Amino acid sequence: MPKAVLFDLDGVIVDTAKHHYIAWRALANELGFEFTEHDNERLKGVSRMDSLNILLEVVGIELPDDKKALLAEQKNEQYVRAIKQMDTSDILPGVTDFLHALKEANIAFALGSASKNAPIILKNIGLLDAFDAIVDGNVISQAKPDPEVFLKGAKLLGVAPKDCVVFEDAQAGIDAGKNAGMYVVAVGDPEVLTGADDYIKDLSAMTLTRLEH
Ligand code: BG6
Ligand code: MG
Repeated sequence: MPKAVLFDLDGVIVDTAKHHYIAWRALANELGFEFTEHDNERLKGVSRMDSLNILLEVVGIELPDDKKALLAEQKNEQYVRAIKQMDTSDILPGVTDFLHALKEANIAFALGSASKNAPIILKNIGLLDAFDAIVDGNVISQAKPDPEVFLKGAKLLGVAPKDCVVFEDAQAGIDAGKNAGMYVVAVGDPEVLTGADDYIKDLSAMTLTRLEH
């Protein structure tokens, strides 16, 4: 049995992935471009500025840093308006039951997210105090697929990386978990996400027995 579990936030605990996409698409449209869900897949799990750089690469334009800072801020304002409306009904299927099962089994769990908005989201969905540790975009210097976010989480929990399981919905996050030397469960489509140790549609498919691997 693993000793600790590390959860990505966006797309694993809560369905914020759609709000990120809507805000990035609005920005691309304003710049005069389309931005498809297929293109958006590359933005999942990566930091806000890295996401903007990928979007600009996809639409084929280059902008100076000061303009990029303004656009990233504009996207975030739209995104924050959406997440301010979130509540417990936005928690994804299976999450609440699985967190309870981990608590009962005395398995520690932490958040490992690239988002600087993680605290607002966790507060709105009532899970700010649920985690034994929180590592988010405010405390990391290297974006996924760098393993920093998960290694920091493991360290805070006092557990060796090999005894940790990561839940991730983004390719960059799956790669970060594997780079950290952890067992990775992908939350999503095996046709889209590669390199994970196990695949589930959402956390309602997860049990302590399956976690034993
Ligand atoms: C990740 C999301 O969790 O956080 C990315 O998957 C997002 O799409 C990143 O860009 C940074 O989020 P934020 O809230 O700091 O802009
Ligand atoms: Mg995610």
